[in-house]
Amino acid sequence: MLLPNARKLFLLITKISFRVCEGFCIKAKPENTSHPVDFNTGMTSPNSSHQPNPYTLLHIDEKKTIINSIKEAIGSEGFERTRIRRDAWFGGEMNEQSQDEKYMQMALKLAGKGVGEVEPNPAVGCVIVKDGQVIGRGWHKKFGQSHAEINAIEDCRSSGNNPAGATVYVTLEPCCHEGKTGACTKALIEAHVSKVVIAAGDPSEHLDGKGIEQLREAGIKAGVGVCEQEAKLLNAWFLKYARKQRPWVIVKWAQSIDGKLAWSNSEGERGWISNERSRKDVHKLRRSVQGILVGINTVLADDPLLTARPGRTSYPFQPARIVLDPEFVIPLDCKLVTTAKTSKLIIAVTEKAMKANAEKGKELLKEGVVVIAIPVKGEGYDLDALVEQLGKFEIARLLVEGGAETITSFLKAGVVDETRVYIAPKILGSKGDVGISEVMGKLAEAVQLYHVTVQKFDGDVCLNGFLREAHNF
Ligand SMILES: NC(=O)c1ccc[n+]([C@@H]2O[C@H](COP(=O)([O-])OP(=O)(O)OC[C@H]3O[C@@H](n4cnc5c(N)ncnc54)[C@H](OP(=O)(O)O)[C@@H]3O)[C@@H](O)[C@H]2O)c1
Ligand SMILES: [Zn+2]
Repeated sequence: MLLPNARKLFLLITKISFRVCEGFCIKAKPENTSHPVDFNTGMTSPNSSHQPNPYTLLHIDEKKTIINSIKEAIGSEGFERTRIRRDAWFGGEMNEQSQDEKYMQMALKLAGKGVGEVEPNPAVGCVIVKDGQVIGRGWHKKFGQSHAEINAIEDCRSSGNNPAGATVYVTLEPCCHEGKTGACTKALIEAHVSKVVIAAGDPSEHLDGKGIEQLREAGIKAGVGVCEQEAKLLNAWFLKYARKQRPWVIVKWAQSIDGKLAWSNSEGERGWISNERSRKDVHKLRRSVQGILVGINTVLADDPLLTARPGRTSYPFQPARIVLDPEFVIPLDCKLVTTAKTSKLIIAVTEKAMKANAEKGKELLKEGVVVIAIPVKGEGYDLDALVEQLGKFEIARLLVEGGAETITSFLKAGVVDETRVYIAPKILGSKGDVGISEVMGKLAEAVQLYHVTVQKFDGDVCLNGFLREAHNF
């Protein structure tokens, strides 16, 4: 059964590769920009300053069609079996699997060091091995600075080693375009490495297999698939944004054991739920996102700043802050508004409220605030439309920080990719405010988490999970 299937797959791939070699490129029409904006008030729409990438959508459709046509031709089962034949990529000359995995694990560990400084770029690590010795290590350290492969080659040379003839382990497909830094494929070719082992492909429009092709054309053996799952998990948000231009949505909250999100003492002063180490971890998470979103009640109750402290040392220094404020009641003297000139503030209102509060809109515009109108669907906003809009602000990772109503509506709308919950060893009882489980009781479907990790921050427990299996990213 596999033989005819494999033959069909080979023919299809040959056909597709041929089209790629011909310089196959399809441009999609720019997306519909019918986002409601009241120009009379002078309030800005995301579309006016950030045009969507005109190449993305059709490219995705094309890719889907290619994969589906392969599946149709050989059946899903044959597709999966053929796809995982790793030796097909390397002509059967691959290292022992355990060796490849060992070095790729090292590269993945290095990649993790860039988290919080490289976004919206992916975290990438690279290890160079020659004669069984690691001769170079590198990772992408900061947004705008050199990539992992370049740093690893430099590391090699600075210790007097020559990367010629070496095997390179890299966690993401090397780039082949001159972006802010030079193309990594060019550097690898010029370094005369003999093999490049890649964990996961990069689906970005300018890459998507082209990096591998360039290496192969230069006579370097190159293939994808070693520790692919881990690499995809590390940069799941990047893979999603690269394909769909929609942010990866992380919902985060801190709760007591009895599911309370807030509490006040007898003098009415509000207290923290989670401990200092957990809060430090939240700031690390904030450094890795480009947008932090809250509901208006959280602004009214807590007057939060919603910045990463300390902030990043590389651009973008602070994430944008986004408030769901359907009635447009945000106070002009709250911290979010008064700091809008240094950290972007986006207020999502209804079109009706935008029109009814034109003067307020003008005041906010002077403070540098962006006001956007979001269509209503059912009881609240069309969150799918909101997420789509935020993608146009170049928000690749969006952190939803509460409160309970906002979190529930995101989960209900099915737009969440990851949840991060800090559970404090406290029972707040009647002192506690806002019961998350009561609000979440409105969820119609059970929510299952995948790829769960558990961390302890002193007494607090932090539970992180994805809402989809990795292969569905
Ligand atoms: N422990 C934690 O991690 C944490 C984090 C954040 C906040 N909190 C606490 O949570 C409390 C606030 O929570 P909350 O549940 O009362 O309020 P919230 O989620 O902050 O705000 C709810 C309001 O936001 C707007 N909103 C939310 N989702 C919407 C949607 N899908 N479409 C349209 N509008 C939407 C609505 O405004 P309208 O009312 O105008 O319709 C809604 O009433 C505060 O006490 C705060 O201290 C705790
Ligand atoms: Zn690169």
